[in-house]
Amino acid sequence: MRLKRRLTPFVDPLPIPGVLKPISRKPRFTFYVVRMMETFQKLHRDLPPTRIWGYEGKYPGPTIEVWRNEPVRVLWLNQLPKRHFLPVDQTIHGARGNPEVRTVVHAHGVVSPPDSDGHPDAWFTRGFRETGPFFQRRIYRYPNTQRAATLWYHDHALGITRLNIYAGLAGFYLIRDGEELSLNLPRGKFEIPLLIQDRSFNRDGSLFYPRRPQPASPGLPDPSIVPEFFGDTILVNGKVWPFLSVEPRKYRFRLLNGSNSRFYTLRLSSGQPFIQIGTDGGLMARPVRVQSLTLGPAERADVILDFSNFKGKTITMTNSAPAPYPDGDPVNPRTTGLVMQFRVNRPLSSRDTSSIPRRLSALPPTPLSRVRRVRNLSLVESNDRFGRLLLLLENRRWSDPITTRPRLGSFELWQLINTTPDTHPIHIHEVHFRILNRQPFDVNHFNRTGKLRFTGAPVPPSPDERGLKDTVRANPGQVTRIIPHFGLTSFTGEFVWHCHILEHEDWEMMRPYRIVRG
Ligand code: C2O
Ligand code: CU
Ligand code: CU
Repeated sequence: MRLKRRLTPFVDPLPIPGVLKPISRKPRFTFYVVRMMETFQKLHRDLPPTRIWGYEGKYPGPTIEVWRNEPVRVLWLNQLPKRHFLPVDQTIHGARGNPEVRTVVHAHGVVSPPDSDGHPDAWFTRGFRETGPFFQRRIYRYPNTQRAATLWYHDHALGITRLNIYAGLAGFYLIRDGEELSLNLPRGKFEIPLLIQDRSFNRDGSLFYPRRPQPASPGLPDPSIVPEFFGDTILVNGKVWPFLSVEPRKYRFRLLNGSNSRFYTLRLSSGQPFIQIGTDGGLMARPVRVQSLTLGPAERADVILDFSNFKGKTITMTNSAPAPYPDGDPVNPRTTGLVMQFRVNRPLSSRDTSSIPRRLSALPPTPLSRVRRVRNLSLVESNDRFGRLLLLLENRRWSDPITTRPRLGSFELWQLINTTPDTHPIHIHEVHFRILNRQPFDVNHFNRTGKLRFTGAPVPPSPDERGLKDTVRANPGQVTRIIPHFGLTSFTGEFVWHCHILEHEDWEMMRPYRIVRG
């Protein structure tokens, strides 16, 4: 039975995920073990403990913290139950014939060799034998040669990612480096990661995820999975609408939208700005002050909030991004309009000596002049042979042969041509990129002729997007131009790019691509 009553907001303190302890630190690599386990966790004061799946039995998983150039190996171990507790649709690619729960871990934004990237087909199960269970595992290598950044790890198994992440399989992965350290940003207990997600609950406290919808009207084919999921409750770090007691000083928050489908436009009730210092791929060139921040699924923003003038005040972080409920309700600002609360009610424990430098970092150059290849990559809504809605990239399905083969070391210009009515957060594995601009075009003309006819001038990215990105919002009716660099630290081999709305990713809006020798 679905829980219809709204839970009381701001009654639970914000949990802060612990940092994962290594098993060993050898000169050649630091070694971690991460088990995926089922447990029950209290997500709100008034809810009975909720069944979740967590890395090391925690939702969110423990934070993996490494230094730049510190090679890491992680043994990922599947100790989950054999069957999913959420409604699995066995018709989705790959699911048939293997009823066991499939998992594979992708470190999002971490540049990894192809055999450690968590390719959606590289899933493994818990694996039962007659003689009893044995646990399936993978050892992944992460060289961490890239610059400091807020990254994350999460499940990526083909056709079931939306359910595995919804069950709780996500955590932070932070790379630190000397450049960042020298900046004297708020750190220690004044640096806090915030994983924002939406969930719905049943009355017994269990997670609610919709079964696939009935056909819209008799005679129409089944829609295959729910095309998007929007929960009615917002959780931060695994707690429903939590609060955080803070001192009147500067804090650094690493914001991550880890939701299945929901976008957030965040604001602070105090009217104070977010002082943004980083994007998906690390520090920006200089801080930008923004009144609101929009994050699509998988996007991150590294921000500083200065509470020093707000002693005794309570500040609410709100969300105003519209999203429909699966049952068609309009956005309800009483529920999904709230995110969390900051209570400036702690005495200063020490003088705030942190600073917000005018210059943060030198971004790697993205010279348009060095772009060797322009790719037109369309985002398309289409129908399968049963008439069911399909969302496609490059007008191809997941299983179609690879057509995108960038050369190692090269710069490319990708034109994401969105012919659908929705914004899709497009993520490319293995690389970071800069957003060049977005330009409106005539969708009908493009659908008829395959040619681009622009209906307006190109618009540069907004200030909060002017850094290195690995996920970009591709708006409807626009060409989004990005410049990925398949170089520096990347590897050759097969990777994927996809929409990070998890329901879309699970339903064909994902394509393999291959980085080839330069
Ligand atoms: Cu965060 Cu391929 O995903
Ligand atoms: Cu990724
Ligand atoms: Cu999408």
